[in-house]
Amino acid sequence: MESLNLTTKILVYTFEEAPENIKKLIIEAKSATKTAYAPYSEFYVGAAALLSNGEIVTGSNQENAAYPSGLCAERVTVFHANAQYPDTAVEAIAVAACHDGEFTANPCSPCGGCRQVLLETENRYGSPMKVILYGDNKIYELESAKALLPVGFGKESLFD
Ligand code: THU
Repeated sequence: MESLNLTTKILVYTFEEAPENIKKLIIEAKSATKTAYAPYSEFYVGAAALLSNGEIVTGSNQENAAYPSGLCAERVTVFHANAQYPDTAVEAIAVAACHDGEFTANPCSPCGGCRQVLLETENRYGSPMKVILYGDNKIYELESAKALLPVGFGKESLFD
C-alpha cells in the first residue's frame, strides 16, 4: 500500500498587496456582481476571466425559478469566453460574491461543478489558469484549476 500526499499551495494576500493586473481582474469581478440575476438566493457572484490575448471577459450567476436551470458566475464566464474566443486560453479567473450589500469577508470558492468546468478549460488550452478568490479580509490565489480539483475527472480518464 502506498499513500499519495497531495499539497495545495494557496497564496493569501489582501487587495492592497495584490499585483496590479490581479487588482484589475478583481475590480472587474466585483463589478460583475452587479449584473447577477439572483432573486432566489440573493447571493450575487461575479467573475472575470483574463484571456491570453489580453481581453477580460466577465459574467455573473443567472438563477431560474426552476433552480437547477440556473448557472454559476464562473461557468457563465468561461463558457462565454470560450464561445467568443475559442482559440484563446484563459490565463486567470477572479471570483467575488456580494450578499446583503457587502462583499463576503472570506474568499468565495467555486462549487464542484464549476471546478470541473475550470479544469476542462485549463486542459483544453494546455496552460494553467490562475484562480483568484476574493474576500474583503483576504484573497486566495491558486496557481491552477487543477489545484482546486486534485484527482479530477478529465479527458484522459475517458480513454484510460
Ligand atoms: N454561485 C456562484 O455563482 N458561484 C459560486 O462560486 C458559488 C455559488 C451561485 C449559485 C447560486 O446562484 C448562488 O450563488 C447561491 O448558491
